[in-house]
Amino acid sequence: MTTPAAVIMDAAAYAQAVEDAVKASAAYYAGGTSSLDDDAYDRLVRGIAAWEAEHPDQVLPDSPTGKVAGGAVEGDVPHTVAMLSLDNVFSPEEFTAWTASLARRVGHEVERFSVEPKLDGLAVAARYAGGRLRQLITRGDGTAGEDVSHAIGTIEGLPDELGEPVTVEVRGEVLMTTAQFEHANEVRTAHGGQPFANPRGAAAGTLRAKERAYTVPMTFFGYGLLPLPGTETALAARLGESAHSNLMAQAAGLGVNTTAATAVPGITADTAEQVLARVQEIAGLRAALPFGIDGVVIKADLAADQQTAGSGSRAPRWAIAYKLPAAEKITRLLEVEWNVGRTGIIAPRAVLEPVQIDGSTITYATLHNPADITRRDLRLGDHVMVYRAGDVIPRVEAPVAHLRTGDEQPIAFPEACPRCGSGIDTREQRWRCENGRNCHLVAALSYAAGRDQLDIEGLGHTRVVQLVDAGLVADLADLFTLTREQLLGLERIGETSTDNLLAALATAKSRPLSRVLCALGVRGTGRSMSRRIARHFATMDAIRAADAETMQQVDGIGTEKAPSIVAEIADLAPLIDKLAAAGVNLTEPGATPSTPAGSGADPAATAEPVGGPLAGMTVVVTGAMTGALEQLSRNQMNEAIECAGGRSSSSVSKKTTLVVAGEGAGSKRAKAETLGIRLATPDEFAVLIADFID
Ligand code: IVH
Repeated sequence: MTTPAAVIMDAAAYAQAVEDAVKASAAYYAGGTSSLDDDAYDRLVRGIAAWEAEHPDQVLPDSPTGKVAGGAVEGDVPHTVAMLSLDNVFSPEEFTAWTASLARRVGHEVERFSVEPKLDGLAVAARYAGGRLRQLITRGDGTAGEDVSHAIGTIEGLPDELGEPVTVEVRGEVLMTTAQFEHANEVRTAHGGQPFANPRGAAAGTLRAKERAYTVPMTFFGYGLLPLPGTETALAARLGESAHSNLMAQAAGLGVNTTAATAVPGITADTAEQVLARVQEIAGLRAALPFGIDGVVIKADLAADQQTAGSGSRAPRWAIAYKLPAAEKITRLLEVEWNVGRTGIIAPRAVLEPVQIDGSTITYATLHNPADITRRDLRLGDHVMVYRAGDVIPRVEAPVAHLRTGDEQPIAFPEACPRCGSGIDTREQRWRCENGRNCHLVAALSYAAGRDQLDIEGLGHTRVVQLVDAGLVADLADLFTLTREQLLGLERIGETSTDNLLAALATAKSRPLSRVLCALGVRGTGRSMSRRIARHFATMDAIRAADAETMQQVDGIGTEKAPSIVAEIADLAPLIDKLAAAGVNLTEPGATPSTPAGSGADPAATAEPVGGPLAGMTVVVTGAMTGALEQLSRNQMNEAIECAGGRSSSSVSKKTTLVVAGEGAGSKRAKAETLGIRLATPDEFAVLIADFID
């Protein structure tokens, strides 16, 4: 579907359109919020181009059609070869027309296309000399960019050293994955900063920031490899002759991250139909990707075809971006709801005038917290930019101030908990009901009973509601003192269900400490962090005795998280006492408590226990498990790995020691192969960890 170009009637409207486009583009490339969403921007530029085609003598020098896009950020490092932008198509028809015009230029049908996702980040050039990363430069205005070498070492996928001591320039996109974006916002807000609006803005801001008190990781995907002045002649010649697909294989071989390691690897296609089929596939996978894409890039694969087609001043003629629907749209903020979560956090949620973003209708979006609403000066009735990409929950970015009419109304903040009427603890940025996790007890208990926590079969949401409504359960510990008579007194529960539930509760009492900790829902800790804490301290008593400094010895807990975890555990003391009194296990099997740091003990003795067949190994599980491992959830697999002394991880990197690849394993297996990481089948792995699975 193509949205029509903006209609421009006269020279004044044309000049205004150019000004609007320049402003929007400058905001976009600086990582700020533009007053145009992507679709509106594309429409405007197409309108500008249409007017210019009719009035070629009146084209303004600033026009976004005539210059390399993204010229807002001035830099001082010249590019050896211009970093070009891409022209866009928006429909199969436009794409087919492009292939036809390309065939005319080249003199024959293009021999082969390469098709890869258009990553939604920022273009950078990474210069390697003798295999070492020496300089990192943004695209800037395409002819010169800003030196951002200070970011070297913070970008995953861009190694400090290549697999061979070559002198080359790797070009590609720096972005934040969804997880990196969420982490960056956590760290940033913990430092009193404003959350980033979206992953692209976060990557832009982070890449250019020089002296921050903290560093947050980003990710690089290479899509170009070219010689530099110092490149050995034979290598320069080889690069110049290589097909794009081959360059990507060479880049991956040197240790650079490429899309090959993702669920949407670059592929080659022989015909336009095959390309269009792949575009559809990528569009279908987009929502589940762990990073944002805004289109698909199609390139003539062969160097000879590229050379014959040539390049314009703004974009090559041998490549095109097939744009997917925008991830950002402008709509109106109708209302703000305040919802209480399972830990008592009171979170604002925006009710929006329904808007279509990438095929879904968005009616709700998250707002961060009250302070953020105030900082952004959001008002009811405002036009707001809404962002949704990948599996990111839709979020409201910012009001579009110049669309204000004056009728907008202030947003009222709750004075009492909207759920139970208790007071609100407003000391932190995220407000919390003073009744804490007891406020939304049903949510807290349903979570605790879940498969990855205490795994209490028969205790679904409806049953939890029944127990709470009947006044039988006022906190997690009450579950473990329920009697047969009490349960039989409830409606719709027979003798068998009662006995089954009592048996499931008895089993739940003996789950490892890591599960209990997770069930408690300590803020800032999920399943894997709960396991790390439990294995580190071995007993709940040791956890309770830990101060912030001791808590920081746990892998992955830094200076920000440690004090809040310690405070949460202290708040939970009465509940933990009650759980202990009810006979719930509060120890971690197989773990021994670490000696506190600073006790003068041998530092090696303060480390976590390192025994087990997977000691020192980082293991990634991918694909479907079969045989003895078939019944294990991913969480259970990770538990088994950690019990066997290993570390579980969800992504393959140079640090990975072993990849367990089951049926249907795709990109992670491919990446392991590229990096030469050991692979195991589920059966082989089952033998290795036989002692650690139930
Ligand atoms: S190729 C000469 N490939 O899209 C060809 N660009 O809108 C130039 N981008 O500046 C780029 N994914 O920042 C290429 N797979 C990909 C890409 C990609 C994202 C970005 C890049 C470029 C912009 C153009």
